[in-house]
Amino acid sequence: MAGNAVASSPQPAPSPVSPPGEALISLRNVTKTYGVGATAFQALKGVDLDIAPGDFVAVMGPSGSGKSTAMNILGCLDVPSSGTFQFRGVHVELLDRDQRALLRRKYLGFVFQGFNLLARTSALENVELPLLYRGDAKKARRETAMAALETVGLTDWWDHTPAELSGGQQQRVAIARAIVTRPDVLLADEPTGNLDSERSVEIMQILAELNSKSGITVVMVTHEPDMAAFAHTIIHFKDGLVERIEKQHAPGQVVA
Ligand SMILES: Nc1ncnc2c1ncn2[C@@H]1O[C@H](COP(=O)(O)OP(=O)(O)OP(=O)(O)O)[C@@H](O)[C@H]1O
Ligand SMILES: [Mg+2]
Repeated sequence: MAGNAVASSPQPAPSPVSPPGEALISLRNVTKTYGVGATAFQALKGVDLDIAPGDFVAVMGPSGSGKSTAMNILGCLDVPSSGTFQFRGVHVELLDRDQRALLRRKYLGFVFQGFNLLARTSALENVELPLLYRGDAKKARRETAMAALETVGLTDWWDHTPAELSGGQQQRVAIARAIVTRPDVLLADEPTGNLDSERSVEIMQILAELNSKSGITVVMVTHEPDMAAFAHTIIHFKDGLVERIEKQHAPGQVVA
């Protein structure tokens, strides 16, 4: 549980369809409407979704089907217009902005298509940032961030700025930054969207290894079936709804 971060918020009884401890993430009849009145657009139309701890999920579907909207809700960046979203049994839709920020900082890591690294800042300093926000001392920050860079195979590149790194290397720095706080869940919205296929496979291998070795639950949006093939579960979105869920192979099973 998120400790004192959410302890004071009202908590309805757990939903009977998702007993505590089973689903890590549980959406029930989630809708999201952007805008109001005549310009209102319903991007999610009643999504039901459970994600088990330790799963590796690929989210697929046509452009505009609601994938990023759903990811923003899973990432506690946005809230549903209606419906419920439980994360670790906590009803996130009842939390305020600050409580959601605490959940994010403690349990979630984010990777984006565009890497989102600070320019003119070394790989190491980029990875240290979440630890700085958390208040870690300088020496501990260095050591933890270097260990995260080692996980993504960038030990030798720690003092390079993003401009001095390839796209694939920049995304590896972004992954190191996302995992440096040891989150439960890594959320990645088209993490290989800006990379060629060879670099994309390298990124997928890192995500698969984080999932299998560190037990991080990975939820990743991708348009590419080759990348989705690394996941255990594929969730297909269509027109703001989950169209179908495909189970590919058991967690822990070696792929590709
Ligand atoms: N902030 C917003 N304001 C208004 N409409 C939005 C907003 N964000 C998304 N939408 C609309 O909601 C729908 C779903 O968008 P979303 O970004 O979730 O799609 P997506 O599945 O991620 O698509 P893509 O594959 O192109 O990234 C789209 O029609 C989009 O135009
Ligand atoms: Mg999107």
